Amino acid sequence: MMFITFEGIDGCGKSTQAKLLEERLRAAFPANTIVFVRDPGNTGISESIRALILDNKHTAMTARTELLLYSAARAQLVDTVIAPALQSGAIVVSDRFTDSTVAYQSFGRGLPLEDIRRANAVATGGIMPHLTFFLDVPLAHAKERCASKNADRLENAGDEFFERVIAGYQQFAAQEVERVKRLDATLAVEVLHEQIWSLVSSAFVVMLGQR
Ligand code: TMP
Repeated sequence: MMFITFEGIDGCGKSTQAKLLEERLRAAFPANTIVFVRDPGNTGISESIRALILDNKHTAMTARTELLLYSAARAQLVDTVIAPALQSGAIVVSDRFTDSTVAYQSFGRGLPLEDIRRANAVATGGIMPHLTFFLDVPLAHAKERCASKNADRLENAGDEFFERVIAGYQQFAAQEVERVKRLDATLAVEVLHEQIWSLVSSAFVVMLGQR
């Protein structure tokens, strides 16, 4: 059983890397032992909440409302998908999780870190990723990657917001070096994937050694 998450700003390439890891894991393990999710998302309730949060028409949404909506979407995802999967011994890969809330709602929106921690604790029931990949890219690089798609409410939050989010990710990646692996996401997709695969493989070795 292992829980792996991908983090970074919009346009950092994490969804591509999460998918590549999923495919590699599916080739190495029985298909029913690999569970791939995105947060917020996957369950009907979480996808509806996701649509609500990201809708550009909700310009009046306050930061606290946003925090609680992300938390509600996560609670449903944890209770109905992630926790049962981990309990059954699966490997779960998630495109975003609690670190996004620290980076976006605390560093980005300015909510107190303690409030984020409490909301995350309620939403997850204490489930934490074993391994997290933070794909670090300069904002200009990420914006280039996003240029062709219509921006949602979060993606429209502005450069200063995203600079704070990047700084937040970098700060806690430095504080949690065991769990959070900061990677240079300007590297070629294949090179980055090999780095990720090597770190995942090492984590499996460590986990098996602990049994
Ligand atoms: P995604 O498009 O990468 O799936 O993420 C959806 C958006 O939601 C993205 O802009 C990051 C943001 N987000 C937060 O602000 N807080 C959170 O807790 C999560 C999970 C995502």
